[in-house]
Amino acid sequence: MGGLGRLLHSTVLLLVASTAVVNGCPPSDRAALLAIKASLHEPYLGIFNTWTGYDCCHNWYGVSCDQETNRVADINLRGESEDPIFERAKRTGYMTGTISPAICRLDRLSSVTVADWKGISGEIPSCIAYLPFLRILDLIGNRLTGEIPAEIGRLNRLTVLNVADNLITGEIPRSLTNLSSLTHLDLRNNRISGPIPRDFWRLRMLSRALLSGNRLSGPIPNTIAAIYRLADLDLSMNQLSGPIPDSLGKMAVLSTLNLDGNRFSGTIPLTLINSPVANLNLSRNLIQGTIPDAFGPRSYFTVLDLSYNNLRGPIPKTISSAAYIGHLDLSHNHLCGRIPAGAPFDHLEASSFTFNDCLCGMPLKVC
Ligand SMILES: *[C@@H]1O[C@H](CO)[C@@H](O)[C@H](O)[C@H]1NC(C)=O
Ligand SMILES: *[C@@H]1O[C@H](CO)[C@@H](O)[C@H](O)[C@H]1NC(C)=O
Repeated sequence: MGGLGRLLHSTVLLLVASTAVVNGCPPSDRAALLAIKASLHEPYLGIFNTWTGYDCCHNWYGVSCDQETNRVADINLRGESEDPIFERAKRTGYMTGTISPAICRLDRLSSVTVADWKGISGEIPSCIAYLPFLRILDLIGNRLTGEIPAEIGRLNRLTVLNVADNLITGEIPRSLTNLSSLTHLDLRNNRISGPIPRDFWRLRMLSRALLSGNRLSGPIPNTIAAIYRLADLDLSMNQLSGPIPDSLGKMAVLSTLNLDGNRFSGTIPLTLINSPVANLNLSRNLIQGTIPDAFGPRSYFTVLDLSYNNLRGPIPKTISSAAYIGHLDLSHNHLCGRIPAGAPFDHLEASSFTFNDCLCGMPLKVC
């Protein structure tokens, strides 16, 4: 090869080498992914068979990279999905093993979804709180143990935190209320104990707070009503106590309020009867007093379940003036008197009223 030829040759080599660097995934990201792969075991679908070769940004199942930097930006592994890989295997996903702390070396991650694999155990790596660009953390439906990382509140871009359906213990970390971008919090069905943090209201962007099926205790902080966008508050099946705050009935967009299966006491706030709340479940608590006689055209309930409490007195007459009541359950209380006639009572069955002290009239026996 002459001088010019050699020059051309090395230029071409340089070009090839630099395009490979620009287009391929950085070796350090690839190494982190391979460490993640090594600590997981997915025997049925073979998704990790695709995690091979140098370019982790292309054709590695569930991995995607930022177009400009080529850094790994999303890990999206769902054990229940419509992806053809599941249809071909004719089954949902199952995966065992643990989530390697090597995931924290992918420091450009914007979303981590490792959901519904049923068998992934171990703890959530605490270093995950140091992923500065993380927006979505979705680990629903595994067998994760340990606590929510204490420093989770560092993730100031986090909008979705979903660790539902795992075996998480410990309390809601103090720092969690620092997640000022959080819109969706789902901690359902774990073993989380302790109180709802007093400064929960600082989660100003929250629209769904789903905390049911844990071991939470203590009261609902009054100030929770300051979360203007909150539409769905599910605190059912815990050990919460104290009164139901009046303020919940004054929230602008709260439409689902599930407080069933706790130890709430006191009376039903009047405010809840004329509020935007359309799904109200207060079943299985220690609620006393009468059902507020305050229904009106703004009372619209797809579900109104007040069963299994200590309610007394009559069914209020104004209930017939509600705009709509779909499912009504007043059973297992100490109500007494005539069941009002007309809507919504014309479509209800006896089971909505049974096990009270002395209710009578349609659909129960005549008075
Ligand atoms: C919440 O954030 C503030 C400001 O960044 C910080 O000073 C405080 O220590 C954080 N709280 C917790 C409990 O981490
Ligand atoms: C209300 O909560 C109770 C107790 O958790 C549950 O059994 C019931 O199905 C719920 N009601 C409706 C209508 O979902």
